[in-house]
Amino acid sequence: MKIARLGVLTSGGDAPGINPCIRAVVRTALFNNVEVVGIQEGFDGLIRGEMIPLRARDVGGILQRGGTFLRTARCPEFETKKGQRQAIRELNEASIDALVVIGGDGSMRGVHALAEHGLQIVGVPASIDNDVWGTDMSLGVDTALNTLKDAVDKLRDTASSHQRAFLVVTMGRNCGYLALITGVICGAEIIIIPEREIPLEEIAPKIEAAYERGKTHAIIVMAEGASYDPAAVAKMLEEQDVGFETRVTILGHIVRGGSPSAFDRILATRFGVKAVEALLEGRTAVMTGLRGREIVLRPIEKVVSRSRKPNLEFLDIAYMLSR
Ligand code: ADP
Ligand code: F6P
Repeated sequence: MKIARLGVLTSGGDAPGINPCIRAVVRTALFNNVEVVGIQEGFDGLIRGEMIPLRARDVGGILQRGGTFLRTARCPEFETKKGQRQAIRELNEASIDALVVIGGDGSMRGVHALAEHGLQIVGVPASIDNDVWGTDMSLGVDTALNTLKDAVDKLRDTASSHQRAFLVVTMGRNCGYLALITGVICGAEIIIIPEREIPLEEIAPKIEAAYERGKTHAIIVMAEGASYDPAAVAKMLEEQDVGFETRVTILGHIVRGGSPSAFDRILATRFGVKAVEALLEGRTAVMTGLRGREIVLRPIEKVVSRSRKPNLEFLDIAYMLSR
């Protein structure tokens, strides 16, 4: 069936790169004489029929902006059959023939659900956590890593001046990817991630050894999803007198904001173009993904049946190099 009108929505946790992706979706569709409707606030807005027409000028000036100008939401109601039926009704009423959904692993489950209802649909992975299976990188990951790099580099400046240890906590509720890579690129002494937690009793001796090797600072990077309480780890280091004083910095949602990096802008652009081209070729129930240097399409069924795990070899590399 020819697509006359395309919908686009953004769902779940936002990520830098979503805006340039929306721009690519809209302008690729318009180039192919397909009208575009923006659905606001994710699946929640879809159920409520919150839609706006998107023309070329409506997506001007957003290439460099973080977040999502369509806004996003979490919508438990959409996880029910009733919510999904309502979504299909709204799409039919607005004469939307196909949909692009930009979001994380939860949103891809939403894509799968709508595909099961017979909707022509393509997903685009966007999540700073980089836990979506089927793509080397999700939108937002590179920008988040650059934000973390800047933050930890700054903390290291003051850590060195004062001979301190810093425990830095990054976002990553269920996935240690960001903490792991930040640990490598910032030369952390310790990395604490849920996928392989360093035993608590090994932390103090490692930090003390770093002090004895003549280090002027020590960096511990911990994922939000790790089971340790950051304040308790810091207290333990104080009590065990490891040489450094310890401070804790919890970075929180700072990690999810900011202007998308060059990498995220090009990835967003390629994902957006590919998503629309796939729909125009009649494809459905797939997600765009980066494999090496290529943009590929992955079956959504496969995407939702697993999650992407960080490469734990980086832990060994980080420890070997933080001498
Ligand atoms: P993210 O997409 O960033 O991983 P969430 O996990 O919160 O964020 O998911 C975003 C939204 O996707 C949810 O609020 C819900 O509307 C939808 N969703 C999540 N899981 C499912 C599911 N199993 N079936 C249908 N929709 C889902
Ligand atoms: O976008 C993914 C993520 O950043 C997780 O790492 C984090 O724990 C979660 O979202 C928090 O999201 P919110 O505070 O918006 O519920």
